[in-house]
Amino acid sequence: MTPFLTEENLRWKEKAHEIAEKVVRPIAAKYDELEEYPWEVKDALAEAGLLGVWIPKEYGGAGAGVLNLCLVVEELSRACGAVGVAYAVNALGSFPILLSGTEEQKHKYLPQIAKGEKLIAFGLSEKLAGSDAASLHTRAVKVDGGWSLTGEKKWTTNGGVAGLYTIFAVTNPESQRARISAFIVEKDSPGFTIGKIEKKMGIRAVPVVELNLENCRVGDDQLLGGKPGQGFKHAMMTLDRARPGVAAQGVGLAQGAMEYAAFYANRRHQFGKSISSFQMIQGMLADMSSRVEAARYLVYAAAQNIDNGATNVSKLAAEAKLFATDTAMQVTTDAVQMFGGYGFMRDYPVEKYMRDAKITQIYEGTNQVQRMVISRWVLKEARELEYLAKYIPEEVQKNLDPAEV
Ligand code: CAA
Repeated sequence: MTPFLTEENLRWKEKAHEIAEKVVRPIAAKYDELEEYPWEVKDALAEAGLLGVWIPKEYGGAGAGVLNLCLVVEELSRACGAVGVAYAVNALGSFPILLSGTEEQKHKYLPQIAKGEKLIAFGLSEKLAGSDAASLHTRAVKVDGGWSLTGEKKWTTNGGVAGLYTIFAVTNPESQRARISAFIVEKDSPGFTIGKIEKKMGIRAVPVVELNLENCRVGDDQLLGGKPGQGFKHAMMTLDRARPGVAAQGVGLAQGAMEYAAFYANRRHQFGKSISSFQMIQGMLADMSSRVEAARYLVYAAAQNIDNGATNVSKLAAEAKLFATDTAMQVTTDAVQMFGGYGFMRDYPVEKYMRDAKITQIYEGTNQVQRMVISRWVLKEARELEYLAKYIPEEVQKNLDPAEV
């Protein structure tokens, strides 16, 4: 049963499921071991038209929106977390163009991504600017006919394999509100190089790298939206729309690990019977399944909200990211537990789910940042709840401070 999903949603899900089972699952362990990008998966996704799911039809995509993007991410992640993020990060990199690019920028870059001619990555974080993204240092200086970018970017997923990069840089250091701008940078731009390639605990088939920009020259037409100063807002709006994709990775990873655990529980015998006949195992599976279902529908709700054009999507997107990725960590860890000692061994596929799940609690905003975003909204919404004061006895109202206006 799949509540909330239309026939169209189910078609995208089925298409992604087919690729996940035919192309992704068979190679997941190999590329995790090799720490190499699985180009044949990218080709299969491009051939199936999955690389432009979220890109509107007028820019060469399928115009199918964020919910269908999430369904694809979920199915891919169910087979391999690295492939899930390798795919989803193209949405993260292209959302700034989609949300804030000029018509020329949209027509130039989005069709290349939709067709799979170029992958795209997102360059916001730096060594000294992680959760506090607004404190970034990379500098863009106006020069004749364009801009010169100098600085370093950290944690760029898809870095090196991507042909396009959305790079955030300081254009007005004096300004508080209009300090940062975004640029679309092509990989072969002079002064742009790939730095350190990280060695990671999980998602090993997708590269995460440092980017070096040294007097990297880009044209005026590569300044996102054509005017400076809007970069931080554009980064935040992008993350609001991309976080359900990370949440969908969490759901896919949790679902995939739970399936291995349930399969194993039926087949593993101890004390003369299958371990699935033990109530403690049954209880674990029931908790895992309930959490996965709850996370799934929170992700669908957040994605649907975005597709319906809701203006404020920050809170629900953060809630979906927080809940689904915490669920992924818990469920994948329990799945390893259920396999006992075998679960800890790399001979079995389940430990990879746990390793891949960990980063989903960290990237695109740590779950501590998500809690910050959510609690800010809860407290803001509580300003509309002043009528509750009358239900607090008058004699104790003196203990409350006056309402802030
Ligand atoms: N939409 C639109 N505008 C927003 C916004 C949103 N969601 N959130 C904030 N803004 C605006 C505010 O309105 C404010 O504008 P004004 O000054 O005009 O009022 C401005 O941005 C500053 O807002 P805040 O004061 O709230 O900003 P802050 O500095 O306190 O930061 C934060 C808030 C939520 C912590 C933010 O910095 C954040 O999300 N940090 C995490 C960054 C992150 O997710 N990084 C991951 C990068 S991608 C990655 O992981 C790598 C990869 O390749 C996968």
